[in-house]
Amino acid sequence: GGCFVTAIRSVVLGCGSYLPQKVLTNAELAARIETSDDWIVQRTGIRQRHIAADDEFTSHLGINAARAALADAGLDAQAVDLIVLATSTPDNTFPATAVAIQNGLGIHHGAAFDLQAVCSGFIFALATADNFLRSGAYKRALVIGAETFSRILDWEDRTTCVLFGDGAGAVVLEAQEQPGKNTDRGILTTHLRSDGRHKSKLYVDGGPGSTRTVGHLKMEGREVFKHAVGMITDVSVDAFKATGTTADDLDWFIPHQANKRIIDASAHKLHIAPQKVVLTVDLHGNTSAASIPLALCVAVKDGRVKKGDLVMLEAMGGGFTWGSALVRW
Ligand code: ACO
Repeated sequence: GGCFVTAIRSVVLGCGSYLPQKVLTNAELAARIETSDDWIVQRTGIRQRHIAADDEFTSHLGINAARAALADAGLDAQAVDLIVLATSTPDNTFPATAVAIQNGLGIHHGAAFDLQAVCSGFIFALATADNFLRSGAYKRALVIGAETFSRILDWEDRTTCVLFGDGAGAVVLEAQEQPGKNTDRGILTTHLRSDGRHKSKLYVDGGPGSTRTVGHLKMEGREVFKHAVGMITDVSVDAFKATGTTADDLDWFIPHQANKRIIDASAHKLHIAPQKVVLTVDLHGNTSAASIPLALCVAVKDGRVKKGDLVMLEAMGGGFTWGSALVRW
């Protein structure tokens, strides 16, 4: 008989997202602090961001995104046996916000946990879930990015508070046998990196173990910018090399949405055509771990991302952490 090499792949069954109702525009910010719509748009591409209501927590955002993803997949919540939530803004210090989401969905089997890699969180969560699915440990996973960064911003600090927003996005993954080629559906490769030498360039100045407070986000913007493009392009090239693909094979580039200038420079350096780049930072701001699934959902819902498309996801953030995931939709 012939020799058939097959692979278990984590195939995306559906995606969903949720944005809080309240929209905060640049003009509204300019009325409160010394900034302007022009400055924010020129430096970042951001025009507005969504802000969670006082009684709306990260878990609530995550549950709404998860429900939308399950509906999109046509799947009952009980079919899910793994939940990985990427967040840096948990409801509480513990337990994991993922268990609140699990409980909210009425799931009482399998495992649910949080994962913390700041803006790279969704890529780290995707890679983690992918490894559990390919090992056979779990069959179907919800990978969620949910954030309420509005809670850790210093609203008097114009250098940071104009950049971030709240939101959540989720995908449902299923372990499926595929032929084992780069034409397979599912996650084809993931690449994760971190380097703690950069930890003081983007951090929160509080926490349970140090100050016993939550703290506020602090950033050396220019330092982050300086490293971002190189790190993003490195891990994207790693993904191309691992799969024998090139930028020409890509249908869509869906980066973490921090800043339009970083995204444009990264796409340019990778020779990715501008029309392949999905951009939502104008509408959502930087939603940290939620930004990639939020952008992904926009491009799936409006018909850009279709079954069989090759999609590059990448992110870079606090730590620094950075990573990529190459996915065939
Ligand atoms: N409105 C008006 N003026 C401002 C504002 C504001 N909101 N914020 C800063 N300024 C002023 C500064 O005070 C400074 O004034 P000065 O020259 O009189 O001192 C001037 O604008 C220039 O400040 P810079 O910090 O040099 O501005 P820069 O061009 O670097 O833009 C920015 C700042 C947008 C933060 C940029 O550095 C950047 O995009 N960095 C990347 C960081 C990023 O996107 N982080 C997101 C989180 S990390 C991640 O997700 C990857």
